[in-house]
Amino acid sequence: MSTLSIATSKEVFDLLRDDLAAIEQEFTRQSASNVEVITDIAQYLMAGGGKRIRPLLLLLSAKALGCETHSRIRLGAVVEMLHTATLVHDDIIDEANTRRGRPSSNTTWGNAKCVLAGDWLYMQSFAYALEERNFRVLELLISLTQQMVEGELLQMQKLGHLINEEEYFDLIFRKTACLFSVSMQLGAAITHSPKETESQLGEYGRNLGLAFQIVDDVLDLTAAEEVLGKPAASDLREGKATLAIIHALERGTGADREAIRTVLAERSFSTVSHPQILEILERHGSIAYAMDTACAYAEAARLSIADLPDTDAKRALLWVPGFVTTRDR
Ligand code: IPE
Ligand code: IPE
Ligand code: MG
Ligand code: MG
Repeated sequence: MSTLSIATSKEVFDLLRDDLAAIEQEFTRQSASNVEVITDIAQYLMAGGGKRIRPLLLLLSAKALGCETHSRIRLGAVVEMLHTATLVHDDIIDEANTRRGRPSSNTTWGNAKCVLAGDWLYMQSFAYALEERNFRVLELLISLTQQMVEGELLQMQKLGHLINEEEYFDLIFRKTACLFSVSMQLGAAITHSPKETESQLGEYGRNLGLAFQIVDDVLDLTAAEEVLGKPAASDLREGKATLAIIHALERGTGADREAIRTVLAERSFSTVSHPQILEILERHGSIAYAMDTACAYAEAARLSIADLPDTDAKRALLWVPGFVTTRDR
């Protein structure tokens, strides 16, 4: 095991500041359409902020492999545009009314315009990626898109039903971890690195992405909407059983299971309240179980890059998993 130290958040930010600023500019340039409403929706979402974790991963992956070219800025913008497009569609599907601390785009412009703006943004990210003239880049982005769409559809089919851990992990890989994985793999693709390096970086992204979505699902249960900037306690109301809930269903008493089933089936907290559910989760250590699982994936991510040469980018990649598991939004 390497004795390389983990970077601080300031070091990571200093390392990436210029590149992240360049990506913001690219994103703005790329989201300008002749049709005003498209530009408005894209700019609105971008101005709402966001953690920019996917471009951050892409930059660190590219830097860890010695990338000095504009490709990393281009693909950093590509992964954030693609992510933004999925958020537009996700909020329509989930009927969410807030995103990044503001009314969600569907609330402001309506579903019909937002579906189309999301499509446009999606295709614009592909058009921009095409400028790389690199088939591996396209291959990664196309299979990613299919995984994400399949993930959303599978999730829809399972709404209101009890799922097991295996199904849960399959879903969160497709809807979230796959994009983390591809963000890392793209760094290898633009530096024409060996297949083995690409798969190690992809493994890092997969582990980190699983940790990220487990934490997102825990925050959905425990955090306040003002902090999250998006609806809280929404997964159960949408009929989604996430890791802590699956854990409690397996360990709970008959009454506990019945309470959870009721919320999932009714898709509301009218019969059983949110605090009642939290009490059940607390009693069975289900939140702690989910967080421990996230931390184990975070550690697995660190181990996945053990073979990378020691660089500042690698030190930053060792920092990211801790950021993901301790975040509050
Ligand atoms: C939200 O992603 C969608 C999930 C995969 C949970 P982020 O939590 O990265 O959203 P922003 O970009 O920071 O708003
Ligand atoms: C993230 O799942 C799925 C995406 C790929 C956007 P969620 O539905 O949990 O995301 P949030 O919580 O709305 O950000
Ligand atoms: Mg959602
Ligand atoms: Mg969520």
